[in-house]
Amino acid sequence: MQIVLIEGDGIGPEVTAAACRVVEAAGVMIDWVRTPAGLHAAEQLGDPLPEETLEIIRRYRVALKGPCTTPVGKGFRSINVRLRQGLDLYASVRPVKTLPGVRTPYDKVDLVVVRENTEGLYAGLEHEVVPGVIESVRLITRAAAERIVRFAFELARTGGRRLVTFCHKADVMRLSDGLFLECARAVADEFPFIRFDEKPIDNVCLELATDPSRFDVLVMENLFGDVISDLCAGLVGGLGLVPGANLGARYAVFEAVHGSAPDIAGKGLANPIAVVRSAAMMLEHVGHRPAAQRIEQAVARTLENQIGLTRDLGGDGTTATITEQLIKNL
Ligand code: NAI
Repeated sequence: MQIVLIEGDGIGPEVTAAACRVVEAAGVMIDWVRTPAGLHAAEQLGDPLPEETLEIIRRYRVALKGPCTTPVGKGFRSINVRLRQGLDLYASVRPVKTLPGVRTPYDKVDLVVVRENTEGLYAGLEHEVVPGVIESVRLITRAAAERIVRFAFELARTGGRRLVTFCHKADVMRLSDGLFLECARAVADEFPFIRFDEKPIDNVCLELATDPSRFDVLVMENLFGDVISDLCAGLVGGLGLVPGANLGARYAVFEAVHGSAPDIAGKGLANPIAVVRSAAMMLEHVGHRPAAQRIEQAVARTLENQIGLTRDLGGDGTTATITEQLIKNL
């Protein structure tokens, strides 16, 4: 099976290499099709997301991606935003679950953040009205709003989940979130067997910080989803643990929630678990559910045993030691 691999920047090459080793050890032979994106691509090819990289993903349809650094102030648009828009990866899915052995304030977190990936304030529509005044467009369309809410309900239905919470700020952004809310309510009517709730995003933050167990599937627009994804990662032990997928009708790109972590890049300190679990989601997506489940069990055992863990998990190990443990525990 051929799957595209984007190593990315910073800790990207370290954590994606670990993920490839774990996938192989789980018994799935993948012929990785390597293609560049990020700083290397910007330096060598003049574009951090070359059209050829998009073409390769279109050809093979599924990719595992390490985090990419978008050069700031050099006129480049975010690679991740371009990738998601270019491939119409309209749904970002981040499952957030309490893991064994990881001490956190709450022990019953089990939720999924579904984020609209192509519009909102990240549509990239900004301009200078006059010097000193910038206008950003918060784009919400009925078509994109309905499809992301429908996606969240379908995910709830197929995943045996009971509640979908739509997060918004419709009291302030009355037109844009007003339309999104109207769409959410209409789609919710199609799924009378799944509970629907609608909450202002600030209330959601408060409740996530006080009792995250009350949430199941959360669905929201792009910027809210970006922020809530990191917040939820913090609830279960941090960015080094939470996997993610960007899904569209034709293509799928799997990646961790975290970025390229320049502060620890090249030091062997990165926790590869988030990318390893993203690879497990990818295996499930392409029909290797048993291998995906074995990887998840190996992650649980590794965290429980507390051997070889990286510093973000309170250990004194490295990317190499934790990867060895993951492979041993498969
Ligand atoms: P970041 O997620 O890279 O780092 C935030 C903090 O978490 C840092 O202290 C870092 O050391 C730590 N951390 C992150 N991942 C870790 C891991 N696997 N193991 C241990 N510690 C980890 O966020 P930051 O610093 O805001 O962004 C750095 C760069 O990454 C930026 O250029 C940003 O644009 C890019 N980025 C890329 C993403 C992607 O490609 N999907 C997502 C988020 C940011």
